[in-house]
Amino acid sequence: MRMNIYITGFMGAGKTVVGKRLAHLLKRPFLDMDELIAIESGMSVESFFEIRGEDQFRQMETQLLERLAGQNGLIVSTGGGVPEKAVNRHIMRKSGAIVYLETPLDDCLARIKSDGGPSRPLYKERDAVRALYERRSAVYADHDVLVHTHETSPDELAWRICEKMRPELSMTVQLGRRSHNLIIAWNSSERLSPFIKKGQTFVITDAHVLKALEPRLNGVLDDCPLASLRPGERSKTLGTAKRLYESMLGRNLERDGLVIAIGGGVVTDLGAFVASTYKRGVPFVLVSTSLVGCVDAAIGGKAAVNLGDVKNAVGCFTTPDAVILDVRALRSLPARNITDGLVEAYKTGLVAEPSLAALIEDDLCQLLKGDVLLLSDVIRLAASAKAEIVKKDFREAGLRKILNFGHTYGHAVEGVHGYRVSHGVSVAIGMMVAISLSQQRGLMSPARSEEIFSTLSCFLPQRVQLPRGAQAWSIMRNDKKNAGGHITFVLLPEDGRPRVVHDVTPDELERAIQEVEGFLNG
Ligand SMILES: NC(=O)c1ccc[n+]([C@@H]2O[C@H](COP(=O)([O-])OP(=O)(O)OC[C@H]3O[C@@H](n4cnc5c(N)ncnc54)[C@H](O)[C@@H]3O)[C@@H](O)[C@H]2O)c1
Repeated sequence: MRMNIYITGFMGAGKTVVGKRLAHLLKRPFLDMDELIAIESGMSVESFFEIRGEDQFRQMETQLLERLAGQNGLIVSTGGGVPEKAVNRHIMRKSGAIVYLETPLDDCLARIKSDGGPSRPLYKERDAVRALYERRSAVYADHDVLVHTHETSPDELAWRICEKMRPELSMTVQLGRRSHNLIIAWNSSERLSPFIKKGQTFVITDAHVLKALEPRLNGVLDDCPLASLRPGERSKTLGTAKRLYESMLGRNLERDGLVIAIGGGVVTDLGAFVASTYKRGVPFVLVSTSLVGCVDAAIGGKAAVNLGDVKNAVGCFTTPDAVILDVRALRSLPARNITDGLVEAYKTGLVAEPSLAALIEDDLCQLLKGDVLLLSDVIRLAASAKAEIVKKDFREAGLRKILNFGHTYGHAVEGVHGYRVSHGVSVAIGMMVAISLSQQRGLMSPARSEEIFSTLSCFLPQRVQLPRGAQAWSIMRNDKKNAGGHITFVLLPEDGRPRVVHDVTPDELERAIQEVEGFLNG
């Protein structure tokens, strides 16, 4: 459940403006308590104080807080006096997090003055305001999150609130004999500086990512040569790799230099491939800026380029020096990548981390809107679940195959539509087919299948024609993940322990496709 976020602080601290920025960032509803009381009472707060007195106003605040506490996911700008009553702090804490905007009194006074100052009810004269400020500072100290506001823009303060609510997280990812640090950061540029080798760092990114992140990267990568690629899958080729090798040679990048790849899965797959093969391998750091990258592509040490129509046909297993997942970058991400990333995260949740699957099932609409706090929760759970799997099976000899859940039939959907249907949508359909196969074999109950179908159908924006019979079978037969000529499916029993099977028959598949079509059409 999403808890409410209550913004507290002295008058003039910027509670309303920061609350609105935070609500915009998280795509959540915003409410201003003073404004609500004014609407409900039919008079301005100033008139309320004059006519009905402060005591009644405080009572009304508590009643309003009790009502707001019955809802969830709200961003609430509280009146400056709200935290003075212990009962109010109790209501806020039980239903959410108390954020305190700590603002120097002079900043508050300057803002009150520019807002028309003395009309605020308790703004009388300087000494009285100072006494009130001191008294309230003592109660504001009872908070969950503290943010200093001095000389900081409302936008930046909204980000800082997110950052304080979900502090940066660092974990070790073991890949075979080597390991690396994985950092889930709100701002990758702050984490990148220690890696940079002066005169020996080469940066690979793409034009979209450069545009979105440039202001944050300025100053950090200033003297590093940078290759900005054409965005998208078309750049993930040996041809691009060749141009990058030439550019790195031209810049005299040595074997102990550093490659930094900043972008979505295309840039990190390609960057890892180029770094691992240039001069037999140079150290590299991946900065993931897409949701697909943060929940999947940047984790697990797979590097590759495509060959013609065959995706990831040439590649290797490799170990970066570090991986940084940049949560702030998700803000500028196209909606399609949020969908694709959530499909991959849901897949990981279903096969390996029930709490991740539950989070996505419970909050899917809000996640699809791009709520960065919730997305950061998804990233934490997905990254640690994938890290745990690749630790046990780096080279995909066994356990790691469960991450292909939904991909067998998903590849048939992608292939038949010439990759015009997104990978995420294709895998969502592939997961439905795998769930239906699991149900046919008595591994999963109809009730649970229905729940998963309902979630997956939210990822499908348009009607997609499903490949049938021999057509689907022949595409799946060519999948590089098959072994010994058998088509590999991952099935999902209700106990959450996925099974990799090679004996699905064409009849079983046909029945599963029919069931999925029936669900989607009905
Ligand atoms: N190595 C692995 O284990 C693994 C796992 C899953 C996927 N992949 C690979 O990942 C690739 C797909 O990754 P993807 O979906 O991130 O694709 P992508 O890298 O093409 O990014 C999608 C689009 O979003 C843009 N973008 C990325 N970050 C942005 C940001 N912060 N702001 C604005 N725009 C941004 C990109 O420029 C691109 O246009 C595929 O090539 C797939 O094979 C690899």
